[in-house]
Amino acid sequence: MINILIIHGPNLHLLGKREKGIYGTTDLKTINKKLGVLAKRLKIKIDFFQSNHEGEIVDTIGKAEKTYDAIVINPAAYTHTSVAIRDAVSAINIPVVEVHLSNIYSREEFRRKSLISAVAEGTICGFGVSSYALGLEAAVDLCKKG
Ligand code: DQA
Repeated sequence: MINILIIHGPNLHLLGKREKGIYGTTDLKTINKKLGVLAKRLKIKIDFFQSNHEGEIVDTIGKAEKTYDAIVINPAAYTHTSVAIRDAVSAINIPVVEVHLSNIYSREEFRRKSLISAVAEGTICGFGVSSYALGLEAAVDLCKKG
């Protein structure tokens, strides 16, 4: 069975309370629940990991290929700053799909650059919670293609 890891970066544990006009009112627990329903429908297995710490995310990515067939990651603020997360993504041999709730290209200048996009299989942004669902479906397709 296809096994996919969903990684949520810093401050995403605050979803639902945080900048609702940008990120919506759905909290992380609900997002994960929705993804769980989708995973069941797609007949795949998923796990979740959230961290506010760059090194923990790097460690998790580095270990992921032992257990998982793909990663869906919202690197959050680290998208724009983390060479370490970019290098971790680049170092592994499973597909990584980058997702963002908001459209990072329509926001502040500093958010318009993703260090992760160049090493991810693809990026989905701007669709709110649906970005995760679309990202998960894309990751499953990549796994099926081998
Ligand atoms: C985000 C966009 C980032 O710029 C921001 O730092 C986040 C969330 C998004 O999902 O829209 O924390 O990744």
